[in-house]
Amino acid sequence: MALYALGDLHLSFQTHKPMDAFGRVWKNHEKKIKKYTAQIVAPEDTLVLIGDHSWGRKLSECREDLAFIEGLPGRKILLRGNHDMFWDAKKTDRLNAEYAGRLFFLQNNFAVYQDYALVGTKGYTFEGPFYLDPWGNLTGWDEEREAQAEKLVEREMARLRDSFSQASDAGFRKFIMFLHYPPTNILEKTSPFTDIAQEYGVSAVVYSHCHGARRFGDSIRGTFHGVRYLLVSGDYLDFKPALVLP
Ligand SMILES: [Fe+2]
Ligand SMILES: [Fe+2]
Repeated sequence: MALYALGDLHLSFQTHKPMDAFGRVWKNHEKKIKKYTAQIVAPEDTLVLIGDHSWGRKLSECREDLAFIEGLPGRKILLRGNHDMFWDAKKTDRLNAEYAGRLFFLQNNFAVYQDYALVGTKGYTFEGPFYLDPWGNLTGWDEEREAQAEKLVEREMARLRDSFSQASDAGFRKFIMFLHYPPTNILEKTSPFTDIAQEYGVSAVVYSHCHGARRFGDSIRGTFHGVRYLLVSGDYLDFKPALVLP
């Protein structure tokens, strides 16, 4: 039994948005997802998909993408990404009722893997605009956007706290934390997300969202303050699911 994660599938079986324009790694990427998950993930394993599942804007435009995910091996748990317009956070229970026994939507709730509670939310980080001088040094950033970002971080933190409390009230003491956005942005060393990871002593923080070689190093990778940080965006991993726990 093992726990795997992979993010940013960006499927478009109904909306037909070719991803090839974003680089060679995206060519026939859905075929790679199918092939590598079949090679790596066993039926008794758990596969957490870290958001940006579908380009569809409403659920009716995402049905085939969700059916594709349902067809992947293992128990599938989904997190919300910034592109997942089909999933209103308040309607998570409705999605869970509809896909019961097939897909689990992780939001203001938790899932169980062995003696770990899996908690997660979309998260948020301020992504600019940043202003650079001609030599590429940072000289400033859009402060209005930064203030808006702070509010979104607060909202996401409230959602995450809710999941942590539910899991600890249920007696869990070991946690894996999932975020779609990276836990810190390029200006930060720590954030409310890294703080809560330390507060609960989580074993790992798994995140995605970073696309392209220039963005893979935007946040923490490796061990920081005793917590393991894993970037699992599809194009970073060439669509091979990453092992989170054996
Ligand atoms: Fe994405
Ligand atoms: Fe994203």
